[in-house]
Amino acid sequence: MELPYILSERSITSEAPSNIAFIKYWGALDFERVIPHNPSLSMTLTSCRSVCSATFFEGETGSDEVLLVSDEGGAPAPPQFSERILAHLDRLRAGVGKEGRFRIATRNTFPAAAGIASSASGFTALSLAAGRALGLDPSADELSALAQSSGSGSASRSAYGGYVRWPGSDTDAAEQVADEDHWPLCDLVAIVETQAKKVSSLEGHRRATSSPYFQHRLELLPERLAAATEAIERRDFAQLGPVIEEEAIDLHLVAMSSQPPVFYWGPGTMEVLAAVRDLREDGVAAFSTMDAGANVHVICEPDNAAVVEARLHSLQSVERVLVDRVGEGPVWRPGAEL
Ligand code: PMV
Repeated sequence: MELPYILSERSITSEAPSNIAFIKYWGALDFERVIPHNPSLSMTLTSCRSVCSATFFEGETGSDEVLLVSDEGGAPAPPQFSERILAHLDRLRAGVGKEGRFRIATRNTFPAAAGIASSASGFTALSLAAGRALGLDPSADELSALAQSSGSGSASRSAYGGYVRWPGSDTDAAEQVADEDHWPLCDLVAIVETQAKKVSSLEGHRRATSSPYFQHRLELLPERLAAATEAIERRDFAQLGPVIEEEAIDLHLVAMSSQPPVFYWGPGTMEVLAAVRDLREDGVAAFSTMDAGANVHVICEPDNAAVVEARLHSLQSVERVLVDRVGEGPVWRPGAEL
């Protein structure tokens, strides 16, 4: 990939949003190039973000320093994450052909590795801060490709605000389906577990094709993706909700039936799923989705957010509720703030 080039800056701080997948990336055709088996579709979030400061000491020798900072209420990123950060820094440096060392500090505003796509926001923030510190000025498409080259496919979608589709096959970048002002959907994340999951999503992708249900889900996806995209275009929550809930259950069905099986759900997950079904029986339009983790994202329109939040708070297994909504893409500013 051709990398865009501008004057070098010393320290840069970036902020990048996480995203919640409505149609999920699960299983890769090519892990090296991060080519998924299927296109995916997500909503970019506002409050669940990664903040990353990068300083590049051009020409200096020595090892890169990576500091994982814990935010209030959030676990720091797991140690495997630093290894992936170091590998990504090597990749970015090689891309521009510069020698030097990095100092990186990164934090999440939410628990990492618990099904809130911390790799998506983390690698997008890192690619933007480190890329700018190296003198790059990436467009959203270029940032999407840079972030995805970290190995996190979902990171390709965090380069844009609003509703984002990652075709994944013949193009590097994801693309915006609709911007953040199109439809103000809410995501109430019921936190039932804050410790990092035992099986990484990368390992889950590797095992996915061993499930007898993998192929069947792939066959269902084109129709599901079309229905979800159309629902977003028309702002039709009655059409979107059932599709995203069905899709999340299918992803976990594939994970649970992989060899060896991957169980991301915990007892709290079941309690939240049941509560969301009860809410619907009470006439409240809310639907669940889960990424690779036990925590449940409850999607609803703004009018129902308060009642959904109150119901989630009343559940025994819910430690806290992160109130989030659709939001803008990443931003950056000069200076180190972490
Ligand atoms: O981007 P990765 O490798 O962390 O995988 C993301 C997997 C899911 O969050 C479960 C689905 C998705 O599309 O975000």
